[in-house]
Amino acid sequence: MAEGGIRCTVNGQEARFEAGPERTLLQALREELGLTGTKDGCSSGDCGACVVIMDGQPVNACMVLAPQAEGARIRTVEGLAAAGGLHPLQRAFGETWAFQCGFCTPGMLMSCVALLEANDRPSRDDILTAIAGNFCRCTGYQAVVKAVQQAAAEMRGGEGPA
Ligand code: FES
Ligand code: FES
Repeated sequence: MAEGGIRCTVNGQEARFEAGPERTLLQALREELGLTGTKDGCSSGDCGACVVIMDGQPVNACMVLAPQAEGARIRTVEGLAAAGGLHPLQRAFGETWAFQCGFCTPGMLMSCVALLEANDRPSRDDILTAIAGNFCRCTGYQAVVKAVQQAAAEMRGGEGPA
């Protein structure tokens, strides 16, 4: 562990936060770095509202102890939109009504972005597997599948959905 707290990068910026023995990455992101886009739904690894991408893999931030983030590359929903505008998946979520109350959306987006970065032509089953840990009380998931396939097509260069 680095002296003076945990050091990592968050959305491409160097970040530092405290590392109490029971402190989680979710608490550090929300309470110390002010990145409240990542939601706390259950604090127990069950709902997926807190998913962030850590070294390329989607993780439940409530299940990652802060010291485990030492040296890691963390991405949160706040980092999705680039200077040019929303990520294609964010736009697709809006266009297909893939969210309603929006509480699950940050975690859902991060799980789906991790999928799209690994698989540019995900099938319906691939998408349902990727979001198996993301609970949504509102959408019934079908619009999420549509949004991911729409975004995948756009990211491949404008083909129709797979
Ligand atoms: S808040 Fe982390 S899985 Fe629910
Ligand atoms: S949009 Fe409400 S829980 Fe998913």
